[in-house]
Amino acid sequence: MLDTLLVNIGQLLTMDQEGPVRGQRMGVLPLVERAAIGIRNGRVAWIGPSAEAGELEAARRLDCGGRLVSPGLVDPHTHLVFGGSRENEIALKLRGVPYLDILHAGGGIHATVRATRAATEEELLQKAKRHAERMLSYGVTTMEAKSGYGLEVEAERKQLRVVKRLREEHGFDLVSTFLGAHAVPKEYTGQPRAFLQYLLELLPAIRQEGLAEHVDIFCETGVFSVEDSVWFLQEAKQLGFGVKMHADEIDPLGGTEAAVSIGAISVDHVCGASEEGIRRLGEGSAIAVLLPGTTFYLNKEHHAKAREMIAGGAAVALATDFNPGSCPTENLQLVMSLAMLKLRMTPEEIWNAVTVNAAHAIGRGSDAGVLAAGRPADLVVWEAPNYSYIPYHFGVNHAALVMKRGKPVWK
Ligand code: NIG
Ligand code: FE
Repeated sequence: MLDTLLVNIGQLLTMDQEGPVRGQRMGVLPLVERAAIGIRNGRVAWIGPSAEAGELEAARRLDCGGRLVSPGLVDPHTHLVFGGSRENEIALKLRGVPYLDILHAGGGIHATVRATRAATEEELLQKAKRHAERMLSYGVTTMEAKSGYGLEVEAERKQLRVVKRLREEHGFDLVSTFLGAHAVPKEYTGQPRAFLQYLLELLPAIRQEGLAEHVDIFCETGVFSVEDSVWFLQEAKQLGFGVKMHADEIDPLGGTEAAVSIGAISVDHVCGASEEGIRRLGEGSAIAVLLPGTTFYLNKEHHAKAREMIAGGAAVALATDFNPGSCPTENLQLVMSLAMLKLRMTPEEIWNAVTVNAAHAIGRGSDAGVLAAGRPADLVVWEAPNYSYIPYHFGVNHAALVMKRGKPVWK
C-alpha cells in the first residue's frame, strides 16, 4: 500500500543517472513520458508508466493532468542568513561605481556585516526562514547556506546556529558552509593572513559542534589572494571540511585552477576563469557552480564560459548566489532562464545543473536531485507541459505543488 500515488504525469524527470554529470552527458536527460510515481514513508517506492498505476493501491491519488514533475531543485550557493538589505546602494550602482569599490570603501559586504552583527539570533532566524520559505515556493527543496557576514567569532557562530536551527527545528534541508573569509574586516585591515589565521583557530569547534560541513573563501582582488586562499582551504581540508572557493568572479586571478588542484568540492562563479582553469575543470573532480544571476545583477556581460566548460568535460551546476548585494533573488527558475540566455546552456544541461550536479556540489549526491526507488520523495509538480517550458517562460513561478518527503510543503 502506497501513501501517495501521482498519476498522469506528462514528463517525469527522474534524473536517475550516475552523477556528477560531466561534459556532453549534460545534454542527456533521464525521463519517463506518461509516468506515475508512488511514495511510501517519505521515499520513492515505485516509478513506471501511468497506464500500469491503476493496479496499485494508494491511500491518496493525485492526477497531475499531464504536467511536468521533477526532483526538488537544489540551490548549491546561497548567502541565506544576513541582517538588513542594500537598496540604499542602488544610486551608487547606477552611477557606475564598481562592486569592489563600494566594498573597499566600507559598503557592500561590510554594510551587511554591520547589520548582521547588530541583529539578534532570533531576528536573523525569522528573516532567513522567510527567504528559505520563498526558495521552497520556487521548488527548491535542498539549499546551501553560507555564513560570512559576521567576520568575528560570535557573529559568525550566530549565523551558523541559525542555519542549524532552520534544519533541526524547521525541517529545511540546508547544507552549512563557513565563509568567515568573505572579506577582511576593518579590525584586520591590511592583514588578510592574520585574519585567516584567526579564522582557522575557530574551525575545530565549528566542526565539532556540527555548525558547518564546508569552508569557502572569497578569492578576489583586495580580498584574499590565490596564495592565501589555497593555504587557508588546505588547512580547512585537513580538519575534515569540504572546501569551496568564490573564484575568478570579478578579476581573473587564477583561483579556478588553484581550487581544482586542492580538490575543492566546487569552484563557484568562475566568470573570469582562464583557458587553463577551464581545462582543469574538465579534469578534476570539482563542480563548476555558475551564478548568472550575479553577473546579470552586477550589470556585467563577462558571463561564465559554460559552453567551453561543458565542451571541456566539466560538470556544471547553477545556483542563485542569493545575497543582499550582488544577487538579491531566491528565484532559481529565473537563474535557469538566465543560464539559457546568457550562458547558452540547453534546457537539458540546465536541468542537470539544478538537480544532480547541484546536489553533488554540496555533498548531497546520494540524497537530493534524483527521483528513484529508495530516494527521498522531494519533488515538484510544475504548471508546465514539458521541461523546456521552465527556462522559456521567464520571471514567474511555475511550481504548482512542492513536496518534501512525500508531503506537500507548498502549493
Ligand atoms: O557571491 N562575492 C562575494 N560574495 C557574494 C556577494 C556578497 C554581498 O555582496 O553581500 C557573491 O557574489
Ligand atoms: Fe556567493
